Amino acid sequence: MAENRRSITGDAAGMAPLDQPVLVTGGAGFIGSHFVRHLMNTADCAVLNLDLLTYAGNLDSLADLQNNPRHQLVQGDIGNLDLVDDLLRHHQPQAVINLAAESHVDRSIDTPDDFIQTNVVATGNLLKACLSYWETLPVEAQDRFRFLHVSTDEVYGSLGVTGMFTEQTRYAPNSPYAASKAASDHLVRAYHHTYGLPTMVSNSSNNYGPAQFPEKLIPLMILNAQEGLRLPVYGDGTHVRDWLYVTDHCEALWTILQSALPGETYNIGANSEKTNLEIVETICDAVDDLLPGLAHAPSRSLIDFVTDRPGHDRRYAIDATKLKSELGWHARTSFAEGIRRTVAWYLENSAWVAEAMTKGYQRQRLGLPTAASETGTRASSPTKAAPEYVVGEQIEGVVVRDIQRFIDDRGWLVELVRNDELAMENRPAMAYLSETMPGVTRGPHEHVHQTDCFAFVGPGEFQVYLWDSRPLSKTYGVKMMVQCGAARPACVVVPPGVVHAYKNTSDVSGSVFNAPDQLYGGPGKSGPVDEIRHEECAGSPYQLE
Ligand SMILES: NC(=O)c1ccc[n+]([C@@H]2O[C@H](COP(=O)([O-])OP(=O)(O)OC[C@H]3O[C@@H](n4cnc5c(N)ncnc54)[C@H](O)[C@@H]3O)[C@@H](O)[C@H]2O)c1
Repeated sequence: MAENRRSITGDAAGMAPLDQPVLVTGGAGFIGSHFVRHLMNTADCAVLNLDLLTYAGNLDSLADLQNNPRHQLVQGDIGNLDLVDDLLRHHQPQAVINLAAESHVDRSIDTPDDFIQTNVVATGNLLKACLSYWETLPVEAQDRFRFLHVSTDEVYGSLGVTGMFTEQTRYAPNSPYAASKAASDHLVRAYHHTYGLPTMVSNSSNNYGPAQFPEKLIPLMILNAQEGLRLPVYGDGTHVRDWLYVTDHCEALWTILQSALPGETYNIGANSEKTNLEIVETICDAVDDLLPGLAHAPSRSLIDFVTDRPGHDRRYAIDATKLKSELGWHARTSFAEGIRRTVAWYLENSAWVAEAMTKGYQRQRLGLPTAASETGTRASSPTKAAPEYVVGEQIEGVVVRDIQRFIDDRGWLVELVRNDELAMENRPAMAYLSETMPGVTRGPHEHVHQTDCFAFVGPGEFQVYLWDSRPLSKTYGVKMMVQCGAARPACVVVPPGVVHAYKNTSDVSGSVFNAPDQLYGGPGKSGPVDEIRHEECAGSPYQLE
């Protein structure tokens, strides 16, 4: 991992030019990393890989290519005109394939602006840079140059029980993700029709396979089934998707890039329609089979039907006849074979999963718009019922430990934090002491990444309120209250996603010690700060009386 990071460059300067590479954008993502590997294994061209390394980009997905001289990764934004201009002029790519995108529908419901920025604005800049590069090329190189934009079948909207999407189907995107992809598809088409840039668009059905970020249906279900966590199936589970194994998609993309005519669009699919419930049940059976003796088996017992995604498209089905008949591509991997390989890969690659899980995603529910529209930020939890706090009830991951007072020749001392005993995964990044006036409440909030490690040892008496807002936690919805302070010195460890508040119930000014694993970035500090989700005081279901 550390080795791999060394091969990243942030600009063109200092890099030896590659020999007429293919510029792959988003090549550290799910499909992109497979596509880069496909070129390394089957083509003789070099690859210039431009990836911003957002949460979805993972260098571990390219670990096997780190010493390959035909592959160079540049960390950067496709929307950065200067950078892309430099790279194009320096390396003179023979083709560009655009896989860089924000790609998760649920996230697009929470933060549509990110999707408009990357999928529309940044893609527009990439096209602009490619056009000005292409215009400088000699005529023969212009004729050979291709720009392939990788898109989705979601731009077509939703189907009824019959019918399939063809290249003639009218665009009718229903989610902010699909709308942003549709917008970029139109831009790509317009650059061909207006300026003559040799562009093509491909619209593929849902992909699956190794190294897909765990927020997507298939990896999420595999990992939850492995760990005995609930398997949240949206709505009634009858939504239909048409599944394509990722390496088959990569073969199709390379075929199109090599053989298609400018201005063409191609649908890519494997004729493999499944309901979401069928997918989850297949995964459960594969996990049970590959991990015999799981305590929670059968994994199907973990299936939990949850609130549907807003605007959830009912059915997608791709007609890929044009690609088959014109360019001779067909999918080679059956669903039974592909899903088995995928499940096995996730079970065997826990280090890759661990790296992916450092990106601030903890398998929480995304894309429920009520929370997003109420708070104006990313949705935090689907349920906002007023909590009734129960003294002493346990929440998964919360640690409450009495702190022993040791007699000292000055009086007494307490050990505030002992990582070996608390079994915290993360070490404190700092420690601070705050003063809370009598009767004052530190308002209810939760952290996205940060684990707090509080010590209430006096002066002052505190009521600490905790509420588990992590939908996938075994104790989701449990509320607890701990009384601690001078009379009962205690340490309280609060993981991300657990709403917490405390109130000084004494008539003296009270001290609260905290050793969080992230740095404080509040007033007077400019350093990094974890995202905090504050509930508004007025009318908040978490508000304390
Ligand atoms: N996954 C699917 O099922 C599927 C199906 C059809 C089409 N697609 C399309 O294929 C493409 C790739 O999808 P994926 O599933 O691999 O996505 P992904 O989210 O796994 O990867 C996206 C990659 O793009 C990078 N990226 C994001 N913004 C960037 C920017 N501004 N500049 C440079 N890099 C940036 C990320 O770091 C990441 O490595 C997307 O355009 C997506 O819409 C995906």
